[in-house]
Amino acid sequence: MDEWSLNRWRKLNILQQPEYKNLEHLKDVRSKLGGFPPLVFTGEIENLKSQLAKACRGEAFILQGGDCAETFKDFSVDNIRDLLKVFLQMSLVLTYGVSKPIVKIGRIAGQFAKPRSAMNETIDGETLPVYRGDQVNSLAFNKEARENNADNLLKVYHQSSSTLNILRAFCKGGFADLNSVNNWNLDFTKNSKINLKYHELVEDLEKSLSFMKACGIDSSNTSSIKEIDMFTSHEALLLNYEEALTRKSSENQKYYDCSAHFLWIGERTRGIDDAHVDFFSGLENPIGVKVSGNISDDDLLRLTDKLNPNNEEGKLTFITRMGADNIRDNLPRLLRNIQREGKNIVWSSDPMHGNTFTTSSGVKSRMVDSILKELKAFFDIHHAEGTIAGGVHLEMTGKDVTECIGGSKKYIAESDLGINYNTSCDPRLNSHQALEVAFGITDLMQQTTDK
Ligand code: PEP
Ligand code: CO
Repeated sequence: MDEWSLNRWRKLNILQQPEYKNLEHLKDVRSKLGGFPPLVFTGEIENLKSQLAKACRGEAFILQGGDCAETFKDFSVDNIRDLLKVFLQMSLVLTYGVSKPIVKIGRIAGQFAKPRSAMNETIDGETLPVYRGDQVNSLAFNKEARENNADNLLKVYHQSSSTLNILRAFCKGGFADLNSVNNWNLDFTKNSKINLKYHELVEDLEKSLSFMKACGIDSSNTSSIKEIDMFTSHEALLLNYEEALTRKSSENQKYYDCSAHFLWIGERTRGIDDAHVDFFSGLENPIGVKVSGNISDDDLLRLTDKLNPNNEEGKLTFITRMGADNIRDNLPRLLRNIQREGKNIVWSSDPMHGNTFTTSSGVKSRMVDSILKELKAFFDIHHAEGTIAGGVHLEMTGKDVTECIGGSKKYIAESDLGINYNTSCDPRLNSHQALEVAFGITDLMQQTTDK
């Protein structure tokens, strides 16, 4: 095979790509994207990789999360701020609970394209192409909406650019200052057991900050008190977009996909000889691969060699999404294979995608209890195998949605799902459920350390 190049993937088998009627138009869109400024910078990408290397060694913990799919209609400063509030609250809970820095990675500023299990969808006898995310077509069920539109690639770039601008302002401009912890409260999490637990922690934090201030350490001289790094990520599904946003660094002559800091390859597109794996094998970004229990031992090792040939710490993350009932049968064998070969892998748990089901009335949902059950198994297994549980990957929002069943504030029952079901794709944890999961993770990590 020829040497790796930015477009070698075009000769390979590729799955889940939209077909466009007007290829000249697509070419024009690609060349426009190619001329735009990078969304993220190579130094930031390397910074994330070194933080992921810490997670690989157990010196940091990854919190990755956000919408299943961002949309054009839900773009607003409020939505971004509310997601960031949940991130900050969860990070605080986790930092306190596990005494490690939390690497914060949003499923944001580019998470718009969805792999689908069927090509078409039929409603009331009418069959149309399936919705593949706003980066491809539109959710409304009519022929025009479901047509693939290459201009959406440009719209995604511009919305991602604005989102990053807002994120950077919030993360560096005072909002994330630990002294502003009371500004991160979300109204609807008030008056709950979890909220009380959270406020006890905030009181402790305030005491620590006063103590540190008395010792001369405060936000005026210590940047980690007043600002955070928030990285971006998405499933790198549409290679026309990813290729167009890849840049060669003038410093080291290597290639970086500057559409996001962290990109992952989905469960449906991780074919070892296919286009996605080939494209990402030539890039410097840290890469994730979603892994279900269906992966063979051989494929896991071949993916490892291809995507992390130099065995760099922090370069490759396996995001396991096996399902609460499946994980105990499959994760141990994967961990043992990787251990035996001495490979450096970051292990993260996505307890969402293996636990999705459709209710009898046809609504996609997830049980908070199954999410916690998969997480418990993830931490137990790592503890038993002597490997490192490096992080979690969640679908969540700062809004008070009713998409996942369960939760301790107001139990969301199956019959409540219709109250505020807003996702354009998979069901997300609402902010209270997300905070509850963060406390759950803390408990699990405390139970499985130093025993
Ligand atoms: C997702 O993360 O939204 C997704 C589609 O995941 P997976 O590839 O694990 O199914
Ligand atoms: Co999803």
